Amino acid sequence: MVISCDPRVGSQPFEAGRDTASPNRNLAPITTSLDSEGRLEVGGCRLSELARTYGTPLYVLDEATLRGTCRAYREALQQHYPGPSLALYASKANSSLAITALVASEGLGLDAVSAGELLTALQGGMPAERIVLHGNNKSREELALAAGRGVTVVADNWRDLELLAELAPGFSEPVRLMLRFTPGIECHTHEYIRTGHLDSKFGFDPDQLDTVLRHLQGCSWARLTGLHAHIGSQIFELQPHRDLAGVMADALQLARSLGHPVADLNVGGGLGIRYVASDDPPSIEEWVRTVAEAVANACRDRGLELPRLLCEPGRSLVATSGVTLYEIGSRKEIPGIRTYLSVDGGMSDNPRPITYQSQYTALLADRPMAEASETVTVAGKHCESGDVLLKNAPLPPATSGDVLVVLATGAYNASMSSNYNRIPRPAAVLVGEGQAELVQRREQPEDLLRYDVLPARLASVA
Ligand code: LLP
Repeated sequence: MVISCDPRVGSQPFEAGRDTASPNRNLAPITTSLDSEGRLEVGGCRLSELARTYGTPLYVLDEATLRGTCRAYREALQQHYPGPSLALYASKANSSLAITALVASEGLGLDAVSAGELLTALQGGMPAERIVLHGNNKSREELALAAGRGVTVVADNWRDLELLAELAPGFSEPVRLMLRFTPGIECHTHEYIRTGHLDSKFGFDPDQLDTVLRHLQGCSWARLTGLHAHIGSQIFELQPHRDLAGVMADALQLARSLGHPVADLNVGGGLGIRYVASDDPPSIEEWVRTVAEAVANACRDRGLELPRLLCEPGRSLVATSGVTLYEIGSRKEIPGIRTYLSVDGGMSDNPRPITYQSQYTALLADRPMAEASETVTVAGKHCESGDVLLKNAPLPPATSGDVLVVLATGAYNASMSSNYNRIPRPAAVLVGEGQAELVQRREQPEDLLRYDVLPARLASVA
């Protein structure tokens, strides 16, 4: 269903000095504007009107911002890397048919980590040859699905190789395989989202690489197409990515010297975004230029033919295109201590603050420019004191019924959402050029009973 929003009259861009070429450096989607009455619009749709039409909490995704980040990656790779390249969308950031279709239409590939993400990618129209399957504990079924459809499998450990060898007689073609190894690179991000250091559950230990590569020499069922490493997420530094290029080029040299015609080098994702004004991530272009030059130089230094350069951005591709709308409900003032504003969602639709102490920026949908004269704590509706979306946030005085907009929620919100307290997941709409389309239906409380089974002997008790 497509809904046309009110015609835009006298709209003004919202954020002065915004960076349309690198939306990951903005707080808000690139189409954010103010209508003639100073109310917030995204993609030409007034946010408070979307809240009324679709209900709250509501995930809103701006098509222009998402296409903008896809293009920024594609164009920067073309400009700065002298060989072939492909950006793969790390769909764990936000997996849906609509996002897959959009990303596929921009020519990107996709990284999936489960049968669910893989099916979403395939049904969303992503060509199998542009998909890779990751995971540190893939099931037999996941491996069979991926390899059977011609998806590249990123082997993370010996068990992946054993299971694939068992399944291989059922495949018509050799399995396209990449090897993931732990590069031993530290970077400054939250401990839970660091993956490149040696104490990590992901990938082969670098000391094992030689043994694995020799083992694969004898595996006619496999065609080793590439090597992969990923160092972490929400990273603002560039140096770890430069260091990674050298480590990966060494691995490439080793693999080729052992007779594997490895064509792809996949450097993972990790570029951070701006959640609050003080965050200052590099632009997509800077990140890609750094990675591309480092990989090209490292290969040149070792006399290696340039591989195809793959990268796997998740957060920096989708986060800034998304905002979440909530309705403000109760207000509790504790004199001298704190004022709580409670919203109709919380840790079930955005578990990042409670999980990583992540910070966000919020605005009132219809009074974004009003003086932020209050300091409030925005709490969710879950039975948990830690269910706080924003702590000590500056906001204009707000009352129940106001629509609150939380920015930069396009990544790791919907995809990490839960049904804690049996709260249904929000709907999602895609907006652009004054139109809104539902891309994820709102769950209903009854949906949450779908998988419950009440044994007959208990049914009679009530
Ligand atoms: N490739 C691999 C193998 C990954 O494990 C990840 C993220 C990515 C690519 C994409 O990284 P990105 O560009 O999004 O930084 N839930 C956490 C983030 C976990 C990231 C896990 N892996 C959060 O909300 O901050």
